[in-house]
Amino acid sequence: MRKLSVFVAIFVLGASAALAMSGADAIKARRELMKGDGAATKPVVAMLQGKAPFDLATVQKTLKTYQDAASKEPAFFPPDSKTGDTNALPVIWDDDNLADLDARFKKFGADATAALAAIKDEASFKATMPGVLQNCNDCHEKYHAKRQ
Ligand code: HEC
Repeated sequence: MRKLSVFVAIFVLGASAALAMSGADAIKARRELMKGDGAATKPVVAMLQGKAPFDLATVQKTLKTYQDAASKEPAFFPPDSKTGDTNALPVIWDDDNLADLDARFKKFGADATAALAAIKDEASFKATMPGVLQNCNDCHEKYHAKRQ
C-alpha cells in the first residue's frame, strides 16, 4: 500500500511536487525507483549470460523502466536527503556533483532511448545492452556506498 501511494504521488504530482518532498520521502522514492531498475535488470542479465532465452518484449520493458526512472530520479536528491536511511554517498552534495549526477541520469535515459531503437534481435541486444548497464556501475562506483 505504502509503495503504491509513493508511486501514485510520483506519477500524479510529477517532479515539481517531488522537489517539495521531505528528505525521508525523497530517499524512499529514489530507492523505490532504483529497486525497480534492479528488478528490471535481472532478466536481461540472465539473457546476456545465456541463462534465459532472448526476449525482445522483456528487453523493451526494461529499457522503458530505465527511461522512466532516469527522468524522475534527479528530483529525489534534495539537500535534506543527504542523511537518513540511505546508501547514497554524501559526496553527491559536494561541489558540482549534483550537476554531474543529473548529467549521468540524462545519459542513462538517453542510452536507454537509443537502445530501444537499436535493439531488434539477439545480436543487437548483445552489442548494445552492456553499454546501457555500464551507466549503473559507473554511477554506483562514485555515488553509492555499496557499489551495487
Ligand atoms: C546517475 C546515478 C545512478 C545510475 C545511472 C544508477 N543508479 Fe542505482 N543508485 C544510485 C544511488 C545514488 C543509489 C543510492 C540511493 C539511496 O540509498 O538513497 C542507488 C541505489 C541502487 C539500488 C539499491 C536500492 C535500494 O534498495 O536502496 C539498486 C538495486 C540500484 N541502484 C540499481 C541500479 C541499476 C540496475 C541501474 C542501471 C540499470 C542503476 N541503479 C543506475 C545511483 C545511480
